[in-house]
Amino acid sequence: MINKSIKTFRLRSRKLTQSKLDILNLYWPIFGLDIKQKINFESYFSKKSFLILEIGFGYGESLISFARQNRNIRFIGIEIYIPGICFCLNKIHLFNLNNINIFYGDALNFLENNFKDIFFNRINIFFPDPWNKRKHFKRRLIQKNFIKKISKNLVLNGFFHILTDSYSYFKHILIVFNEINGFKNQSKKMNVYFFHKNKFYTRFFDKAKVKKKYIYSIFFKKKF
Ligand SMILES: C[S@@+](CC[C@H](N)C(=O)[O-])C[C@H]1O[C@@H](n2cnc3c(N)ncnc32)[C@H](O)[C@@H]1O
Repeated sequence: MINKSIKTFRLRSRKLTQSKLDILNLYWPIFGLDIKQKINFESYFSKKSFLILEIGFGYGESLISFARQNRNIRFIGIEIYIPGICFCLNKIHLFNLNNINIFYGDALNFLENNFKDIFFNRINIFFPDPWNKRKHFKRRLIQKNFIKKISKNLVLNGFFHILTDSYSYFKHILIVFNEINGFKNQSKKMNVYFFHKNKFYTRFFDKAKVKKKYIYSIFFKKKF
């Protein structure tokens, strides 16, 4: 059971500026997917197309750069932070990307409501909130039940790719995956050069870099 009363994020509610409201009004109907709506994924995404899910995309830098570099791949992003969603929607429009769709809401809720018939080739979780204090560990997004559940939507040989700059979270993630059968750890050591070479960064990646923190790049492959 996933405990949905425990929140993995801190809600930051500020009044949206007019420009953000305009972005939402203009682009949400085109690129947004509604949690309450039962989505017929087959009408949205062909079974043949490579599909990548990113959970907690923040301002969406990674989503946008991957989607620009891979126009034949489809991307779905989930985020709870509305200013981040607005920023991302604006970029989707500016770069004329028709391969991204966005969900607004808590990823824990989507599992049951929306993702029954959909299979991802890759699930990216970049710099999930680390919740480094012991009393907050239960708020971490990556928990055994969550990963077990969402893995059902990952194709065989599909990957989880997780980045974190928290050593404590890194160890926690390894423990979680070790407790779940069917995954092979294929993590590589990656340095800052890798991320730049691949034209890939996120806001939290930059923050970690400024603080000269080590970034743990974790790959788990679904074997069965
Ligand atoms: C530390 S930020 C990282 C953002 C971005 N991936 C980056 O690297 O810059 C974590 C993000 O995850 C989002 N988040 C946390 N829990 C979530 C959940 N259950 N569902 C959707 N998004 C979530 C937060 O709103 C926040 O934007």
